[in-house]
Amino acid sequence: MSPALRAAILTLGALLWLSGAVWLVLHFAFTQQTPWGPLPNPWGAVLMRMHGVLAVGGVFLLGWIVGGHTIERWGSARNRLSGLALAGSAALLVASGYALYYTTGAVHEVASRTHEWLGAASLLAALAHWWRNRP
Ligand code: HEM
Ligand code: HEM
Repeated sequence: MSPALRAAILTLGALLWLSGAVWLVLHFAFTQQTPWGPLPNPWGAVLMRMHGVLAVGGVFLLGWIVGGHTIERWGSARNRLSGLALAGSAALLVASGYALYYTTGAVHEVASRTHEWLGAASLLAALAHWWRNRP
């Protein structure tokens, strides 16, 4: 993998995860309860705008990674399981991210919970992938 591609994947992946994770903290710990209902933290919207733009870059990089990196390494068992977990969760995050925009009601609820849990847990797959590859 070229150093530029590796740097792009690590930077974008970290920012994507952080923008989602910090949003979760704001959402669950810093939503104000008012007599008229819950008042979301104003930084949540800023983070989601960043997350949305990073997600577009993430989908672009995902295509690049699947087309090169994963196909080239498929023959070796090394990192295959964590790589599959990473690519699989990314695919589900793309699908549930799409559903967050274009569905309502119960389907939206399922997409929301799936996206939140899977997004937070995807860090484990990334760490496992890195663990096998460290010097
Ligand atoms: C390829 C990866 C990803 C894509 C394409 C993606 C896409 C999206 C999209 C389109 C939204 C809706 C934005 C909005 O409502 O304005 C969203 C929301 C969100 N994303 Fe992601 N995302 C990805 C990865 C992640 C990761 C790694 C996390 C880590 C925690 C995460 C956490 C969240 C959260 C917490 C929300 C708000 C959920 C809600 O409204 O219930 N996402 N994402
Ligand atoms: C979205 C999915 C994936 C991402 C984001 C990803 C990302 C990365 C990154 C950033 C590295 C470090 C490269 C370096 O230090 O030069 C790496 C290494 C590696 N990955 Fe993946 N990977 C993914 C999927 C896969 C899959 C599916 C496989 C196997 C079938 C795989 C096999 C490997 C192997 C063997 C290495 C060790 C170093 C090398 O051969 O370059 N990866 N991966």
